[in-house]
Parts: sequence; structure tokens; C-alpha cells
Amino acid sequence: MDVILLGPPGAGKGTQAKFMVDRWNIPQVSTGDILRAAVREGTGLGVEARGFMDRGELVPDRVVIGIIAERLKEDDATGGFILDGFPRTLPQAEALESILTDLDRNIDHVVSIEVDEEELVDRLTGRRMCKGCGESFHVLFNPPQNEGVCDRCGGGLYQRDDDKEGTIRQRLNVYRDQTSPLIAFYREKGSLREIDGSGNIQDISARIEQVLTGTE
Ligand code: AP5
Ligand code: MG
Ligand code: ZN
Repeated sequence: MDVILLGPPGAGKGTQAKFMVDRWNIPQVSTGDILRAAVREGTGLGVEARGFMDRGELVPDRVVIGIIAERLKEDDATGGFILDGFPRTLPQAEALESILTDLDRNIDHVVSIEVDEEELVDRLTGRRMCKGCGESFHVLFNPPQNEGVCDRCGGGLYQRDDDKEGTIRQRLNVYRDQTSPLIAFYREKGSLREIDGSGNIQDISARIEQVLTGTE
């Protein structure tokens, strides 16, 4: 099963991807997580990406397309994958089509998670992320059992540099201008599955499960 999670910053892509990894035993491929790891390790990729990420802008298409072309060839992705945060521009979506054609596969579902803008800001300003596994928590909406510690892997939690209100607004603008056209792109292809992303995390997981198993 090859799935894309589409949605604005804070929609819950990362949160729902973790549930889907457990449910379907396929990997989460998050360009944001890959880029943050590169920044942390100080690799060439990280040095190139950091300024864009800190400003809330997109990293150039050529860079993220290269990451995905390599990642989707790995062994753990042969049975399917969950793309979280890619594609985010039309050129990325077109590049993905050709990467998948070369691998003789195609996207089964594009799950578009929809949430109001003010709620997105509240979700992002209270978010805490795990350094170890990338799991998202929220100080009010989804607190960890022990403050500052990941429930899943025991890693330390931190606040992302781009989760400041000014940068959040910029990321939302970038989403509106550059990423939201993908909704029409995938609707035309017949693969778009729209999900109401408001409400509690388990209810949204159940909605995604219904859509992916065709039991809506
Ligand atoms: P990326 O890491 O992908 O960030 P994003 O798209 O801005 O999305 P987020 O991770 O902020 O949100 P999410 O939907 O995963 O929400 P989450 O589940 O954490 O990208 C970061 C940067 O990297 C980009 O700005 C760009 O520079 C670069 N980049 C990455 N991919 C790129 C690409 N393809 N091309 C170019 N550049 C790229 O949830 C958010 C919060 O809400 C959490 O606190 C969570 O606990 C809480 N929450 C979740 N669900 C609920 C709920 N139902 N109710 C209440 N709270 C909830
Ligand atoms: Mg995320
Ligand atoms: Zn963790």
C-alpha cells in the first residue's frame, strides 16, 4: 500500500503516520524528519536545508526529490510506504510519478487531512517532538505520560525551532500557495481521500482506517 499524507503544518500527518506504521507495518517516510536529522548531524544536506527550514520556506525541489528517489528504493519500502510531507509542490508530485513508474508501482491513496487554521496554530505552538523517533506530543492535547519523555521510545522531547508563531504563519502561507494545489491535482487523478482532521486523535485514525480499507 503506497499512501501520501497531505495536509497543512499541524494537521496531524506525523501523528497519524505513527499509527499507520503500527497498523500496516510499512515505513513512514517524512522529508521533514530526514531533513531535521541532517541538520542535527551537520551533514552537507543539513547545512543546505537549515536556512530554508528556519524561515519556514520549502527546501528546493531538487534536494527533496533526490532524498525520496533514494529512500523509496530501500528494502523496507517494497511492501508500501507512508509519505509524510512529500510531495509539497507540483514539480515534486510530478517527479514522484516518474520515480514510482520506474519502480513499477503507483500511489493508492492520497489522504488529505483538513483542519482550520487557528486550530493548526494552537497545535503547533504546544507541540513537543521526540529526538529519538520523531513522535509528536502536545503539552495540552496529547501530553506524554512523563513530562519531557517519549512514551514510545523513551527519547527526550524538544520544541522545534520552526514552531514559533511567526514561522508557523509563514509555513501556513507556503502551504496555501505551493502545496494546496496538490489537492486538485490528486482529485483529478481519482486518488484523493478527504478526511476531517478535527476531533480526537483516535477518531481521526479510525476515519483513515475506514478510508484505506474501503469500509466508509
Ligand atoms: P515538516 O516536518 O513536514 O513540517 P510540516 O508540514 O510543517 O508539518 P508538521 O510536522 O508541522 O505537522 P504534522 O501534520 O506532522 O502535525 P503533527 O502530527 O506533528 O517540514 C518541516 C520543514 O522541512 C518545512 O517547513 C520545509 O522547510 C522542509 N520540508 C519538509 N518536507 C519538504 C518538502 N517535501 N519540500 C520542501 N521542503 C520540505 O501534529 C501537530 C501537533 O498537533 C502535535 O503537537 C500533535 O500532538 C497535535 N495533534 C495531532 N493531532 C491532533 C488532534 N487530533 N487534536 C489535537 N492535537 C493534535
Ligand atoms: Mg510532521
Ligand atoms: Zn520517541
